[in-house]
Amino acid sequence: MDFTLSPEQEMLRKTCAEFAAKELAPHAARWDRDGTFPRDAVRQLGEMGLMGVFVPEEDGGSGLDVLSYVVAMEEISRGCASTGVIMSVNNSLYCDPLMKFATPAQKERFLKPFAQGKKLGSFALSESNNGSDAGAARTTARKDGKGWVLNGAKAWITNGLEADATIVFTQADAALKHKGITAFVVDMNAPGVTRGKHEDKLGIRASSTTLIHFDDCKVGPENLLGEVGQGFKIAMMTLDGGRIGIAGQALGIARAAFEAARDYAKVRTAFGEPIAKLQAIQFKLADMATELDAARLLTWRAAFLKDQGQKYTAEAAMAKLMASEASTRIAHQAIQVLGGNGYVKDFPVERHYRDARITEIYEGTSEIQRLVIAGNVIKSQ
Ligand code: CAA
Repeated sequence: MDFTLSPEQEMLRKTCAEFAAKELAPHAARWDRDGTFPRDAVRQLGEMGLMGVFVPEEDGGSGLDVLSYVVAMEEISRGCASTGVIMSVNNSLYCDPLMKFATPAQKERFLKPFAQGKKLGSFALSESNNGSDAGAARTTARKDGKGWVLNGAKAWITNGLEADATIVFTQADAALKHKGITAFVVDMNAPGVTRGKHEDKLGIRASSTTLIHFDDCKVGPENLLGEVGQGFKIAMMTLDGGRIGIAGQALGIARAAFEAARDYAKVRTAFGEPIAKLQAIQFKLADMATELDAARLLTWRAAFLKDQGQKYTAEAAMAKLMASEASTRIAHQAIQVLGGNGYVKDFPVERHYRDARITEIYEGTSEIQRLVIAGNVIKSQ
């Protein structure tokens, strides 16, 4: 078993780390405080090929593997978790399903400029009254000649305020339940599409989250993604990959919190010596480092399986469950190591704590990950 990154992956990791240290980390606290979308940083991510990491080069991407994507996600999120989720949604939730289900014409219009980072994508599945129960979507698609008319509202849409297009999951035939769910890729400037308010969030405050309304929004056959009724499977397959990206984001947040605590413990003195010499602090640092490594190994395994074209649904859920919960625990302990300094905005760990929390919620809550894992382990016997 070889856990070493290839020279190309290592070079990507280093490039992302340097970019994060120079262009993200110094601004992350201000972006968080003001809720500023990091527009220039996102443009630079596009120029670095990070908005379509595993998209083939002919479709505008970098043509790398999923493991490279995860490595990049960790480094970018270590610098700024908000920038991390903006990147993750564009890569995993927007570009990935287009790679798999779009026609050549759709790829040209809706994938290429997004993988190049010239445009930004979003993913509209959840609604105000159904998040975990994704099959209960109430946004409708009514057949109208050769096209459809969409009506409804989608909630909690990351990148919603800046997105140029969204993949929207609608119900085309309620009698068919989840087999009626149908996906479309829609230009955000299409008539009938409007954006809601900027949600004022606990963490990842520099990324936008909003409602997207569809009011008699007319779309044509060129907007249909996959087949009528295939939408639920497209959503589930997409989320399998998305969960690996969020695990990568959680790793980045956890590492930033761990490193802040470790560095603080080496210089802060108490009882006549650096607190890093106290067993109470050493045990915390040991647990944090161990959880971080365990989460990374699960995340890399899920990415490896996806790269191999093997089944990875349960492994992606395990990676996200472990990495997100570890991230919250590690950030919690980081505050404990810093004490009062951990609780104020002069130090970054309170932001890491707030940022970590969402990773247990979006792209499937921890409870949903446990359901997915349980379903798979029970089925396998
Ligand atoms: N891949 C392919 N197909 C899958 C699948 C997968 N991973 N999971 C399920 N399916 C298929 C099943 O095989 C089944 O197919 P058939 O009808 O042909 O038999 C079908 O889908 C229905 O499966 P289930 O009966 O298991 O579906 P369910 O209704 O019980 O739901 C669930 C399962 C796991 C709870 C699912 O609803 C789910 O993942 N919910 C969470 C949704 C979620 O993660 N939302 C996050 C939104 S995105 C976001 O966070 C916003 C953002 O911007 C970041």
